[in-house]
Amino acid sequence: MSTTSNEVSGSAVPITVAYGDGIGPEIMDATLRILNAGGARLAPEVIQIGRAVYDRGITAGIEPVAWESLRRTKVFLKAPVTTPEGGGFKSLNVTVRKTLGLFANVRPCLSYEPFIATKHPGMDMVIVRENEEDLYGGIEHRQTDEVTQCLKLISRPGTERVVRYAFEYARRYGRRKVTCFTKDNIMKQTDGLFHQVFDEVAIEYPDLTSEHMIVDIGAAKMANTPEQFDVLVLPNLYGDILSDVAAQIAGSVGLVGSENIGSEVAMFEAIHGSAPKRAGQNMANPSGLLLAGVRMLVHIGQGDVATRVQNAWLRTIEDGVHTYDIYDPSRSKAKVSTSEFANAVIERLGTKPQVLKEVSYPVHSPPIVAKPRERPRAHKELVGVDVFVEWLGSPEALGKDLEKLSSPELRLVMITNRGTKVYPGGISETFCVDHWRCRFQNPNGIGKVTHEEIIALESRLVTAGLPPIKTEGLFTFDGKPGFSLGQGQ
Ligand code: IPM
Ligand code: MG
Repeated sequence: MSTTSNEVSGSAVPITVAYGDGIGPEIMDATLRILNAGGARLAPEVIQIGRAVYDRGITAGIEPVAWESLRRTKVFLKAPVTTPEGGGFKSLNVTVRKTLGLFANVRPCLSYEPFIATKHPGMDMVIVRENEEDLYGGIEHRQTDEVTQCLKLISRPGTERVVRYAFEYARRYGRRKVTCFTKDNIMKQTDGLFHQVFDEVAIEYPDLTSEHMIVDIGAAKMANTPEQFDVLVLPNLYGDILSDVAAQIAGSVGLVGSENIGSEVAMFEAIHGSAPKRAGQNMANPSGLLLAGVRMLVHIGQGDVATRVQNAWLRTIEDGVHTYDIYDPSRSKAKVSTSEFANAVIERLGTKPQVLKEVSYPVHSPPIVAKPRERPRAHKELVGVDVFVEWLGSPEALGKDLEKLSSPELRLVMITNRGTKVYPGGISETFCVDHWRCRFQNPNGIGKVTHEEIIALESRLVTAGLPPIKTEGLFTFDGKPGFSLGQGQ
């Protein structure tokens, strides 16, 4: 990461700042005021993103000049933005993360017992969420009258770099265990790859314990005994959901700041949303954005300032000066507004927490490097095709029609409806919709097929009034099938 090279010793570091929507401007004001009072040397370039930009008809919510600033400063402190509901608008968060290659989203969720109520006093976990892939690709289609789909994409390099980042992070911060959650008993290819890469990378870190859990039971354990977890590495969607759960059971989603790390650029933000209902009332808790700002200071080589600010924040929490969201009459001493909270932190600059663990960052922390390894590419062979068609009749009638359209090289092997085999040998209880996946393979089991044969098949389907919605090639990689079987097959 090149951010430390941006720093000219003693002089201000250019950063890009977005005040966002809803409560964004209030919590950004509070955050910058505290950081500056703490001695941060920052030269903010303010960009406009979110509502104002969407309202000008720019569906991405961000303009070219903003990208220029981000690519120049490579450091982004971002307040929450509101994504307009309904079709046509893109989530700006996701666009920024993916466009700038911010592959790891790091979310520390820890309890501040006895000062903030939690059922889990011993909780201290860091979620490292994959940030670019999975169902967040936003590649969705309505394919038939009745059926929509969303592509779940998991890549080996994308997984490898986030998993390596999690292990490197664990080493850097003296943590002992890295846990991975997937649902690879169901998604054997996509989640299966994430799990496999996790196991491969874990071998390189014998000093750390590694474990994998299926996400349902893992999530249940996380909600019940979060103190048993240390660093967690999760695919994007599970990471999104479980980081809110973890933050909330630790105390509040309002207390977690996140770093979105790329190999060039990094973005720092709270994990919560723009809370439009609370906007303009000077009520919101700025802690999530402030703690993100602290991580930004560590990132740009101002770890001394980060230490001062975070310790003052911890002391404020200990002193019971709390915003409404964490206020609890039995623990808190004063219910304060956003700006009063910022003042309270500023007053405590130079002090340390007395009960909670104080932090101490080195002034300069070298970036955590997590690059995928070079590896030979597998030998790939085309061995069949899944053709998806829209059809309103019975599976048997469709099967009979398709048998007639088979060729010696491409024979109908099965038809599934939403993944369940319905031909040959389906049963009448299976509920079917208008979307059918028809698998054609070489009759001698897995054998080579050509693209020309597939195109010829598609052409016969069109002529027969069964135009494909889409086709999906079936490939083997070094002889191993790269596709799932149908349920019941
Ligand atoms: C988060 C948020 C975002 C996400 C939304 C705002 C797109 O929930 O940062 O966790 O889903 O990643
Ligand atoms: Mg979220």
